[in-house]
Amino acid sequence: METVKIEKIVNRGYGLGRLKDGKVVFVEGAYPGEEVIVRLTLQKSDHAFAEVVSVVNGSEDRVKPRCKYFRNCGGCHWMDLKYEKQLEYKREVLKDLFTREKINVEIPPVEGSDLAFHYRTKMEFHFEGEKLGLRKRNSNVVVDVRRCEISPEPFNEVLEVVRDAVKVLKIPIYDWEERAGVLKHLVLRYAFSTDQLMVIFVTKTENFPWGKELKQALLRKIPGIHSIVHVMNSKDSVVLRGPYRTIHGEGVITEEFDWEKFQIPPTAFFQSNYSITAKLMRHVFEELQLKGNEFVLDLYAGVGTFSIRISYQCQRVIAVESSKVAVKAAKANANINGRRNVEAVEGDVLAFLKSYDGRADKVVLDPPRGGAGKEVMRELLRLSPERIVYVSCDPPTLIRDLKVLLEGGYSLVSLKAFDMFPHTYHIETVATLAREVS
Ligand SMILES: C[S@@+](CC[C@H](N)C(=O)[O-])C[C@H]1O[C@@H](n2cnc3c(N)ncnc32)[C@H](O)[C@@H]1O
Repeated sequence: METVKIEKIVNRGYGLGRLKDGKVVFVEGAYPGEEVIVRLTLQKSDHAFAEVVSVVNGSEDRVKPRCKYFRNCGGCHWMDLKYEKQLEYKREVLKDLFTREKINVEIPPVEGSDLAFHYRTKMEFHFEGEKLGLRKRNSNVVVDVRRCEISPEPFNEVLEVVRDAVKVLKIPIYDWEERAGVLKHLVLRYAFSTDQLMVIFVTKTENFPWGKELKQALLRKIPGIHSIVHVMNSKDSVVLRGPYRTIHGEGVITEEFDWEKFQIPPTAFFQSNYSITAKLMRHVFEELQLKGNEFVLDLYAGVGTFSIRISYQCQRVIAVESSKVAVKAAKANANINGRRNVEAVEGDVLAFLKSYDGRADKVVLDPPRGGAGKEVMRELLRLSPERIVYVSCDPPTLIRDLKVLLEGGYSLVSLKAFDMFPHTYHIETVATLAREVS
């Protein structure tokens, strides 16, 4: 054990300090200016990771975490830090990452979430033995969670009912080591604008004869549940994938924004924070600077979250998305919103771009955490759109991809972060690039 002074906050929420021998140490749960006693958790040749054993000199920005599972559960990382400070630290992390890569850009304050608690539109809970909850950080061990402070209140009610019903009905829980059993996850989705709640049971097996009883148990206690769905997912690496059947209700929930309505099916991606999504949609739209005559590519389009808004101000939107379920929803959403100039294409973005030689006047892309990748960036350079708006949930992969565009004749005209995930270290960033005039 050693005492470490924390110099700054870095990516993935670590406090950076130095061990006695000068080696850099990344400390979980420690903040700038603090002096903490740490226990090393991982040693590498040039750096180490550690956790806090006790705080010698604590930051004034610490607060009492609302959640009793905090630090044990891996869902949140900064719940013991004032919300305003979380926003400041996210900005500092971005500044640090961009400065290190010598990318010069103004980074305005991070746009905060209207709700700092109970903001999640979706939560993935896991079953393990008698436990139902969230996983510890960097681990598969489940923490039995009876109340989650970032979940909307109805999720906490569902957790209680399902926990009891599963026990009474003696539903076999999936054993992750033996690879035997049935029930793996409970996924909950909530549409904030319409107050619609969806309960999703994810099983290993196709056979799930408890649907009727679970529906009865749930509706008796929470009559307002909008949809109950059973997803059959034999893969252990992803939570929400595979064929599904609706046990109760419509099987899709609807979210509404200023201009548009979206139907969200159980297994399609949708942004995790409603108020931030509204701000994000507005920002993406503004950053594209549409004139009305453009062909716009919306890459990694999901259910058409950005496409619909964009379509009001351009000639055509081509929305490219690999999930069949999401593409079907994107087509339905274009129809529901009366947008005839949105074409939803099912496919891999890279494969699509490689064979695309049509117009791409402007591009918006919002890839998963791994980023779009250098090959996708090279295809964008070939298509040479006037503006590119890159929405990212992982700054390092964003920077990796931006460097290809910056070397290829684009300049970074703005960078703005949105707090999609309060109490976590995750940062949602939008980078706007413009083609340099030669
Ligand atoms: C971060 S989400 C963004 C979705 C959408 N833009 C939104 O705001 O709701 C990323 C999306 O990319 C899709 N996706 C992942 N890899 C893909 C690929 N290689 N090609 C096309 N789509 C992909 C996922 O299914 C998911 O819907």
